Amino acid sequence: MHRFVGKRIAVVMGGLSAEREVSLNTGAGVLKALQDNRWDVVGIDWKPGTSLAHMIEEANVAAVWNALHGTYGEDGAIQGLCTCMQIACTGSGILASALAMDKVISKRIFESNNVPTPRWTLLPHEPAANDVATLAAFPVPFVVKPANEGSSVGVSIVEDLAELPAALASAREHHGPVIIEDYIAGTEVFVGILDDRVLGSVEVRPAGKFYDYEAKYKRNDTKYLLPPELPRDVVDRVEHHALAAYRALGCSGHARPDVRVTPTGEAYVLEVNTLPGMTATSLLPKIAKSIGMDYATLCEQILESAR
Ligand SMILES: Nc1ncnc2c1ncn2[C@@H]1O[C@H](COP(=O)(O)OP(=O)(O)O)[C@@H](O)[C@H]1O
Ligand SMILES: [Mg+2]
Repeated sequence: MHRFVGKRIAVVMGGLSAEREVSLNTGAGVLKALQDNRWDVVGIDWKPGTSLAHMIEEANVAAVWNALHGTYGEDGAIQGLCTCMQIACTGSGILASALAMDKVISKRIFESNNVPTPRWTLLPHEPAANDVATLAAFPVPFVVKPANEGSSVGVSIVEDLAELPAALASAREHHGPVIIEDYIAGTEVFVGILDDRVLGSVEVRPAGKFYDYEAKYKRNDTKYLLPPELPRDVVDRVEHHALAAYRALGCSGHARPDVRVTPTGEAYVLEVNTLPGMTATSLLPKIAKSIGMDYATLCEQILESAR
């Protein structure tokens, strides 16, 4: 029997991050699916100026279905709040959430666990005299990105050194140091994971240069290939490294690592997303559907894994 049968659940959505609107969509989808399956479930829209702790307390719930993306939702903050309140929360715990949100720490952990990740270095947040020397080891094309952002915000691919100053300035608009990374030519695969198990994966082919903010949220010309149009042994390798990355960070529940794949089939993990989009048409639900798991069942399984 499901662990939370007979208990009240809160779907927490909205929140204070830049991804508030995306989160409201995720939350509305999850709330409706659980309601349709006759769960005793309430929606909580955490807005600026309101106390999330107070709203969770008032709702008198046994578990939080966390539909918050970005800051406070994805970085261990709400996981910590729920832990203090002794209420179960879906997805990864405090530490794994915080580690996965930080690309620098994630990459160090990948490297120490033999999870391939693109060769990289760090530039400080403030421009420094030896930036040029550091960059000499990275022939074009290379990638410039802020260490602590998401949604492709501040990410540039530098193909010509003339583009470098603008790329650095854009990454430095955000908090923290700047990651310089080898550009991995080829294709991109997102792997759906639930409870330490790979559900499947989807190949993402944006129409533009890379899977940027516009492609993620504004345009509808990205192609999603499910299953990926790649040889089975390559998909196996991608999924193997994606699961290894999830395990290395200590993730639990659902997650969706991003993996770059070269034309010769080598796979490099970019990051692990611990709070992937979960509207009925998001990628993780599409992956689940491809193996016969409907959206509501996926929402229930994620709930079941709440700790
Ligand atoms: N090393 C890389 N090689 C090729 N493309 C990259 C690389 N790093 C990032 N990208 C492109 O930029 C996108 C966003 O980068 P990512 O590291 O996943 O950060 P975010 O947290 O913003 O999603 C990726 O989905 C990919 O299309
Ligand atoms: Mg990404």
